[in-house]
Amino acid sequence: MNTLVTNIGELVTNDPEYGDGLGIVENAAVVIEDGRVAWVGPASSAPAVDNRHDVEGRAVIPGFVDSHSHLVFAGDRSAEFEARMTGQAYAAGGIRTTVAATRAASDEELEANVVRLLVEMRRGGTTTVEIKSGYGLTVADEARSVEIARRLSEETTFLGAHVVPAEYGDDPGGYVELVTGPMLDACAPHARWIDVFCEQGAFSADQARTILAAGAARGLGGRLHANQLGHGPGVQLAVELGLKAVDHCTHLDDADIAALAGSETVATLLPGAEFSTRSPYPPARALLDAGATVAIATDCNPGSSYTTSMPFCIALAVREMRMSPAEALAAATLGGAKALGRDDIGHLGIGARADLVVLDAQSYVHLAYRPGVDLVRDVLTVTRK
Ligand code: NIG
Ligand code: FE
Repeated sequence: MNTLVTNIGELVTNDPEYGDGLGIVENAAVVIEDGRVAWVGPASSAPAVDNRHDVEGRAVIPGFVDSHSHLVFAGDRSAEFEARMTGQAYAAGGIRTTVAATRAASDEELEANVVRLLVEMRRGGTTTVEIKSGYGLTVADEARSVEIARRLSEETTFLGAHVVPAEYGDDPGGYVELVTGPMLDACAPHARWIDVFCEQGAFSADQARTILAAGAARGLGGRLHANQLGHGPGVQLAVELGLKAVDHCTHLDDADIAALAGSETVATLLPGAEFSTRSPYPPARALLDAGATVAIATDCNPGSSYTTSMPFCIALAVREMRMSPAEALAAATLGGAKALGRDDIGHLGIGARADLVVLDAQSYVHLAYRPGVDLVRDVLTVTRK
């Protein structure tokens, strides 16, 4: 069945076919056929189809692509957040609190938590979500984490190398062997990606290299958490390995920015983490001005960034990181798609998945202009994993 979405005041396509930048078509219509975009153009010349959906002059954008989240967890760290807001520093070790709660939870509880957060995300206009494991850190707990994620999303990531768990405290090498051996065997069938937290207090560049190579041998694409808490080798490693994305990128030097700009690796910025840990924001302006490709994602997790809201991250990117509203929206849609190596999402060109978000606003600019306001009127998409 075909559907005509019409009377769109401002349509963001992210397709250069319809103009520079966001590829905006005014007074537009879109025809959806079998879940794909089949026609885009002025509403006045739209073809006649079975179903007509009038959005009454509102803006329509592609669904957000949240390319970085940690939804498989149990427990709550609001006390840690409160302590931080009254002066305590954020440290990677807080991850272990969530590991203990996650190990103690049933499969049903873990799945219910993912579903709850995915519902929030969908309400906020997100139509694709990457979900990481990383709070199990035993073979069985990592395997069930990626398995649960895989039931609910096609973009799943094995993050056994999130932090060295307490029981391996004096044997990090032994833990890397576990991650690259039995844990990878158990998780690879359910994962598309493998990720490593490459940071002081987590994993070194050499360990990251070993873990990503083991994942690549099992057909998993590599990603990295890097340069979040301080400057480190992770960004350079990601570029050297030609990874699709390197995430956080908070502490970058000129050589890192030049390396990213000269590469296809997407710099994924997670401003919710800087907001919630009261840290300096990543140098988005320098990255964009140098020509790097930038994505924005939520990093949703109970420790450093407990938000599911891409509009909130867009508002932070604009206000705090000096991205233009257009750059921020592109990063939250097309940027996320590139970070996941996908060309069927993040835009509304012909053939794209018909993931349309109708805003209760005349323009996408309102996403940053009206911070904290729920502007997502409707999410039009085919139901799928
Ligand atoms: O992406 N950086 C590592 N992992 C998460 C934080 C996890 C936590 O604090 O529980 C992040 O920010
Ligand atoms: Fe993360």
